[in-house]
Amino acid sequence: MKNVLLRAGDQLKVQGKIHADAQRFQIDLGSSSSELALHFNPRFHDDNADTPVLVCNSRSGDLWDQEQRDTPNPFQPGSTFKVVVKHTGKLFEVKLPDGQAIEFPNRQGVEDISYIRIKGDISLTSFKMH
Ligand code: GAL
Repeated sequence: MKNVLLRAGDQLKVQGKIHADAQRFQIDLGSSSSELALHFNPRFHDDNADTPVLVCNSRSGDLWDQEQRDTPNPFQPGSTFKVVVKHTGKLFEVKLPDGQAIEFPNRQGVEDISYIRIKGDISLTSFKMH
């Protein structure tokens, strides 16, 4: 989605169903596909990790920055999920299905998010921004 506006203080609620054979999915926030303030990427089968992992990163000038990796990954292939991403200004807070949350710094200091992309091995059932 282009030409959206998610400001500091706003949040995004995404609901869906993760495919049973899922490898990964992602929620990207930024200004274009090459400029991302947040790439939130739950992985279920990752070459670099023995266990499922939550990868977060930013992307600048079409290059990935340094990854942040969090475990556990509480998302379950084959089940429905809800995730809430809050843009606080200083950071992005991602509320996970197990009641925990992870934080990723707003490295580029982006105030307004104008580009949102959700893709991967899920079916989207609900998307809310407020
Ligand atoms: C890469 C992967 C990208 C993105 C990035 C995050 O290895 O190909 O899709 O997830 O890691 O750092």
